[in-house]
Amino acid sequence: MRLADRLDRVRASQTQQVLVAVERLRQQGVEVIDLGAGEPDFPTPDHVKIAAAAAIEDNFTKYTAGAGIIGLREAIATHYAERYGAAYDATGVVVTAGGKQALYNIAVALFGPGDEVITHVPGWPSIVEQVHLAGAEPVGVRTSAEEGFELRAESVLEALTPRTRGIVINSPANPTGAVMSETELHRLADGLGDRDVWVILDLCYEQLIYDDTPHNLPGVLRDRLGDRAVLVGSASKSYAMTGWRCGWLLAPVAVAEAANAVQSHSTSHATSITQHATLAALTGPQACVAAMRDEYRTRRDTLFDWMNSDARFQVVRPAGAFYLFPDVSELLSPDERRTSADLALALLNEAHVAVTPGEAFDAPGFIRVSYAASMEQLREAWTRIQQFLG
Ligand SMILES: Cc1ncc(COP(=O)(O)O)c(C=O)c1O
Repeated sequence: MRLADRLDRVRASQTQQVLVAVERLRQQGVEVIDLGAGEPDFPTPDHVKIAAAAAIEDNFTKYTAGAGIIGLREAIATHYAERYGAAYDATGVVVTAGGKQALYNIAVALFGPGDEVITHVPGWPSIVEQVHLAGAEPVGVRTSAEEGFELRAESVLEALTPRTRGIVINSPANPTGAVMSETELHRLADGLGDRDVWVILDLCYEQLIYDDTPHNLPGVLRDRLGDRAVLVGSASKSYAMTGWRCGWLLAPVAVAEAANAVQSHSTSHATSITQHATLAALTGPQACVAAMRDEYRTRRDTLFDWMNSDARFQVVRPAGAFYLFPDVSELLSPDERRTSADLALALLNEAHVAVTPGEAFDAPGFIRVSYAASMEQLREAWTRIQQFLG
């Protein structure tokens, strides 16, 4: 069978493979605790569900404008203006079927063969694969556990070549939870000068930052590199809306139009009902977001303390997102579990706890443990892991 050449370079999402393995075991009746998933365990807030039901009742069930209903585009622009002072006109906003599609539209609209796009590693694999799908070359800049996985402007600037067309930054980051500092973003802007390079900021975990660190990256980016910057956001993690599929991008109008052109020939637009639900999420009460964040913070602190007290796990306290990303090389050996993928498989099959191997994020020797699970589940999972490791 002959597939398109570009598929030679694209790997299916390994994080989704964990989901499949969990499903298979559950079908066999095994009670698996899933700390592999990258999604909130909370239900979507009630007022959002009610808005969606009303949208159906009111027959908002037809095609919408490709870039989204105007009320939602305005609400997204207002969100970034009010929170970060990053002013965008609604014409620069495109609503998408998830942050993933926003990033994909942008990759296809801005990058092509011969171009290099810098991103940080360990990182979310879709960023790299989307660059491949666009025909361009991803260039990974490694961050280190010793530095708390902080992205340094210096290492990004060192990776620049005459072929660099873009830099994709994810903050807070999946899988490390690291938040880029405003100072480093300023340094990056200083170093870029007037170079013709796009900077794309993936803010999908923007409302899940637990520590009191300055993190106005959208404001800094808009001020310093506004004509070359794209912000990407999502309702998925902030509002526990992963299945609804709603994300967005904010960009200079010509870029927004290009991204919308890409989308207009693929999915057309995000689901009409989802758009109304997301409008309610962004404009309705925000106490639900704060409550979820507080609960994630408690879980992070608890799980971190457990893990940190076991010398076999080298773990950094993450500032955001909902993952711990420990170095587990102490638990590997040439004759038993050689890799972190072997360890993750053994934890799944023998301890019945699903985690994602670091290999999925180009970081062998690590595992990603999600704390988007109840405290009881986390406690039970940690007990099972401890029993399994002996
Ligand atoms: C870093 C990062 N960016 C973007 C996304 C996209 O999420 P969604 O498409 O659900 O908005 C994810 C989802 O896991 C992610 O981890």
